Amino acid sequence: MTTISPLRADDRAEWAPLWAQYLTFYESTLDDAVTDDVFARLAAEDGLYGALARDDEGRAVGFVHWLFHPSTWSTTGYCYLEDLFVAPDVRGGGVGSALIGHVRGAAEATGADKVYWLTQSGNAAARRLYDSLATDTGFVHYEMEL
Ligand SMILES: CC(C)(COP(=O)(O)OP(=O)(O)OC[C@H]1O[C@@H](n2cnc3c(N)ncnc32)[C@H](O)[C@@H]1OP(=O)(O)O)[C@@H](O)C(=O)NCCC(=O)NCCS
Repeated sequence: MTTISPLRADDRAEWAPLWAQYLTFYESTLDDAVTDDVFARLAAEDGLYGALARDDEGRAVGFVHWLFHPSTWSTTGYCYLEDLFVAPDVRGGGVGSALIGHVRGAAEATGADKVYWLTQSGNAAARRLYDSLATDTGFVHYEMEL
């Protein structure tokens, strides 16, 4: 059975390899200082929130990170699910769905109006899951690097 629990400071050793695999999935690298800062803010719930999924032997098998922000379209604001990762050997078993469900519960508890997230159009495995849980808005994502 999968259990989901808030990310805590002493989870770093189990979170770090999953985070590294996630960055590799996105063919990205980050300075260690960024990873250190992100983990510290997640563990302190300092504007960033995280949860770890564990299998029935207690092994960390996935994570999700999210944050809240105000909106011009809402009095209570939105929840942005920024990162989601499940270890390759347990995919297809409902862990991803459970992690999204955890964020939904956290967002409902704060009164946020919605949970939203982005994915790459070609990420078929992720989109199969998302299409079963949420609505594809059709928005196209742009970025301006600074
Ligand atoms: C996207 C991701 C988080 C999904 O996690 P997951 O634990 O496999 O998700 P679930 O098991 O809850 O759901 C996957 C869906 O695909 C189905 N599936 C079946 N076999 C599968 C397999 N071998 N691999 C993946 N999904 C499979 C599941 O049955 C489920 O469909 P359903 O809801 O219709 O039953 C995971 O694939 C992942 O970490 N991918 C790499 C990183 C990534 O893409 N992150 C998301 C960025 S937006």
